[in-house]
Amino acid sequence: MTPLHKVIINKDTNERPIWIMRQAGRYLPEFREIRSKNPDFIKLCLNPNLSTEITLQPLKRFDFDAAIIFSDILMLPYGLKQEVEFKKNFGPVLGKINLDKISEIKDIDFVKRVQQIYEAIKNVSNNNILKGKNTIGFIGAPWTLLVYMINQQSPKKQLKKDFFENKNLINNILVIIEKFLKVHIKNQIDSGANVIQIFDSWAGLLENKDLPYYVYNPTFNLVKFIQSLNVPVICFPRNIKDYKKYCDFIKPDAICIDYEIDPLLIRKEIKIPVQGGMDPKILLTDKETIKAEAKKYLDIFKDHPYIFNLGHGVLPETDPGMMDYLVKTVKDY
Ligand code: CP3
Repeated sequence: MTPLHKVIINKDTNERPIWIMRQAGRYLPEFREIRSKNPDFIKLCLNPNLSTEITLQPLKRFDFDAAIIFSDILMLPYGLKQEVEFKKNFGPVLGKINLDKISEIKDIDFVKRVQQIYEAIKNVSNNNILKGKNTIGFIGAPWTLLVYMINQQSPKKQLKKDFFENKNLINNILVIIEKFLKVHIKNQIDSGANVIQIFDSWAGLLENKDLPYYVYNPTFNLVKFIQSLNVPVICFPRNIKDYKKYCDFIKPDAICIDYEIDPLLIRKEIKIPVQGGMDPKILLTDKETIKAEAKKYLDIFKDHPYIFNLGHGVLPETDPGMMDYLVKTVKDY
């Protein structure tokens, strides 16, 4: 059994596996080099040789316990033929949604548009470097995808004023998202993904009264679906106010926490395996601070099944040398 599976499935508290969200990304010069020659981000995600290479880059440098496949949560709307573009220094920009067109899309059309992702997952999981380690597949949660698909760009701090205006559109899109997320997950698992993480980056934008409809119910359905395929699922509802209620409702196999939540409160309230927490900005400081902060999380979760990670993606300005130091600190603990 892999270290990650030991923690998640066996609730082992002796293992201290580590992987990092956005571990394959802009803080690595070897990624920036490939990226500079491939200005179209979607095309890069759909190039199986390059996305395989990028996925493996961090594992060649650091003793990570898992590879997360180089792709994006917005490959779902791309697969549904919504326009998706990544604008430099701005982020993703999506085209206007057409409900009639999107309703016509069949499973096979979707799979055809994104099948290179599954090819990359096969390449990665068959690579020797993954021996005894996990290949993490992922999706965006229905709510976070709905946010991008309707809002057509990152909401930053708030949604567009008329976001909830067209209820019919929202309700229909939510059903379509859930359906195709299942197709996307099933294909990732069939290709070799043996852990799935669900990113709900905008869970914190909703008022409590809206959580059951947009977050709890659709995410619960996906968690149940993944578990029925015998693969553990980690949920990351960033900035959700009540992690306990989220876990009680959704019952993921592990919960990934953001850097704003008090880890002591999490240890007290949450019984399932925990992942993450440390502020990515810590990696921009110095070795002493990194060691102290990493130790803080490791000490707090000493007797709790725990996977080391950050409380959000690693920042592009991070020095890879500091990442190396962090990994060694965690491994030597
Ligand atoms: O973690 C990994 O290493 C695997 C790959 C991965 C990417 N995006 C690659 C990426 C994963 C798991 C994601 C998830 C993702 N994508 C989320 C959820 C996590 C989060 O950050 O909250 C979201 C909201 C997205 C949508 C997205 N993709 C945004 C908002 C952006 C632009 C902001 C940014 O960081 O540049 C992206 C682009 C993106 N996705 C990059 C990478 C490596 C940067 C692309 C570049 O080189 O310009």
